[in-house]
Amino acid sequence: MTQILVTGGAGYIGSHGVLALKKRGYDVIVLDNLVYGHQPIVEDVLQVELVVGDTQDRLLLDNLFATRNITAVMHFAAYAYVRESVTDPGKYYRNNVVGTLTLLEAMIAAGVKNMVFSSTCATYGVPQEIPISESHPQNPINPYGTSKLMVEWILKDFDKTYGLKSVIFRYFNASGAAPNGLIGEDHTPETHLIPSVQTTLLLTVLVLEIIFTSAIWPKPTFWVWNTSLNQEKQRCLI
Ligand SMILES: NC(=O)c1ccc[n+]([C@@H]2O[C@H](COP(=O)([O-])OP(=O)(O)OC[C@H]3O[C@@H](n4cnc5c(N)ncnc54)[C@H](O)[C@@H]3O)[C@@H](O)[C@H]2O)c1
Repeated sequence: MTQILVTGGAGYIGSHGVLALKKRGYDVIVLDNLVYGHQPIVEDVLQVELVVGDTQDRLLLDNLFATRNITAVMHFAAYAYVRESVTDPGKYYRNNVVGTLTLLEAMIAAGVKNMVFSSTCATYGVPQEIPISESHPQNPINPYGTSKLMVEWILKDFDKTYGLKSVIFRYFNASGAAPNGLIGEDHTPETHLIPSVQTTLLLTVLVLEIIFTSAIWPKPTFWVWNTSLNQEKQRCLI
């Protein structure tokens, strides 16, 4: 049976990728160094084989590709803290660029020529227009965004030279959890917009409810405007 290798599958988006693949009947192997990933999510919840290792470990990769029937790679593994990438750029170029290059070279050596790559909206930099279209110029303003853009360039060259086909997703603040609540976002520290807003609002509501238990005080309200759909403002009581 053919298998899909999911790097970073013990992380937030990667674990949802694994779930989606499993639901469609694919045989999945996760490669994750567990620096930020959660082992129980892979082995206990998703019940998928976890190989604990790093994308920079060429020997491990060669062994994986030689001993399995991997036909495609979904590549989520990366470090993704923008501020840290500014203070420690080498860490980001090494992990995100060198790690991906090592993985791509191992794939080519093994004849595996399909990749889904997790890129980021951070490759666009400061928007010239909103909403940002896919063809918006890419001018990243931090090493994290640059590291992802470099991989996008590498993927284009690997296609020209080796015929490696890729799909690139540029996520903008992914959010949410699986409907059954078993997998979701669990970052430490949490820097993403939506969970940070949710946490702040929930704490505010909790404190207010503790202080003002009477009905005189209305519950705080979180307003969302969806201008792209021209909808009325939506009122989300939490
Ligand atoms: N979460 C978002 O909103 C968002 C937005 C844009 C792009 N992205 C990209 O999506 C991908 C997944 O993001 P996430 O939020 O799930 O992050 P995450 O930190 O939850 O998951 C990344 C996983 O990769 C693992 N990992 C990191 N480097 C590795 C390496 N060298 N070898 C093996 N495993 C490694 C980590 O242990 C972690 O489990 C990342 O590439 C990120 O840059 C995420």
